[in-house]
Amino acid sequence: MKTSLAFPIRKTQHSHLAGTDFSNLVFGKTISDHMFVADYRNGEWSDLRIEPYAPMQLNPSNAALHYGQSIFEGMKAYKNEEGEILVFRADANWSRMNESAERMCMPYLPKEIFMEGMTQLLDLDRDWVPSAKGSSLYIRPFMFAMDDYIGVKPSDTYRFIIFTCPVGNYYSKPVSVKVETKFTRATEGGTGAAKTAGNYAASLYPALQAQKAGYDQLLWTDGKTHSKIEESGTMNVMFKINGTLLTAPVNGGTILKGITRDSVIQLAKDWNQPLEERFVTVSELKEALENGSLEEAFGTGTAATIAHIRLINIDGKDYELPGKTSDAFSYRVLDALDGIKYGSIADPHEWIIKI
Ligand code: COI
Repeated sequence: MKTSLAFPIRKTQHSHLAGTDFSNLVFGKTISDHMFVADYRNGEWSDLRIEPYAPMQLNPSNAALHYGQSIFEGMKAYKNEEGEILVFRADANWSRMNESAERMCMPYLPKEIFMEGMTQLLDLDRDWVPSAKGSSLYIRPFMFAMDDYIGVKPSDTYRFIIFTCPVGNYYSKPVSVKVETKFTRATEGGTGAAKTAGNYAASLYPALQAQKAGYDQLLWTDGKTHSKIEESGTMNVMFKINGTLLTAPVNGGTILKGITRDSVIQLAKDWNQPLEERFVTVSELKEALENGSLEEAFGTGTAATIAHIRLINIDGKDYELPGKTSDAFSYRVLDALDGIKYGSIADPHEWIIKI
């Protein structure tokens, strides 16, 4: 493999690859043998290395633990028929990570460190990339504050790590969601567009309440009026109403700029699928459920790719979505994305890098 950045690689003496059951993967539980690490001090990234995945020492006064200066990304690698490793749109994740970094007062991470760290890690742990259809290697790059200081200010030091996990399907079946009109994921001027730890922490309590009431996830509404649909759980959300694909715009700062969302929009454009990037209101959604014009609803995200929604609860009332045939947009787009990711169809937008 051609590399442009040289750094030390310390290999594990205790690989747990042979003891891993690839037919029984729970999302995020199994971590591969190695991780890439870089440290930021004195205004620059240094000490790049790959080492065995292992616990690390942090002081109890570590700033990230107290004030949440922590951001992450998620992308996936796939194995094609020839055994090559294909990574989907990692450069888009790198760009988004730097947008999150800026919002959270964290340092810019050069593309070369992100891409070379990932490439060399995947090359070393290539046997961890599952080959079964529906399985992939989830890649988790993240950055967090490293100052030992509990005054409230941006940290001066940071650590960037990439580790990977072999994963199966995120959701095994279509999900039920509840429109949330009390709690808020994000509001204008907040951190909703950043992939930062606190957004996920704040979502746990409302999601748990929905799960206790029997739903898999929430449909988040805007923080001001709770009248516009923003996201679904940890994903962007799309609806097909009267033949038009609808999804919330991502320029208002409250919604994550999903890379799967962007890929679905691109394919919809390629296929001349009518599409509008605009908010769907709760009352519009209710009406569409009542008059049968809601054809499809689905979440889009790296972990699930497409999460089909089977039921939506609005104001305490459950609405079942109509059954879909295999030519439904959400199935076709999932097939096309899988085809590109596993290398079985052409990649017209050059989304794949091969390792
Ligand atoms: C994604 O699907 O892209 C996510 O961010 C989910 C992750 C938090 C597990």
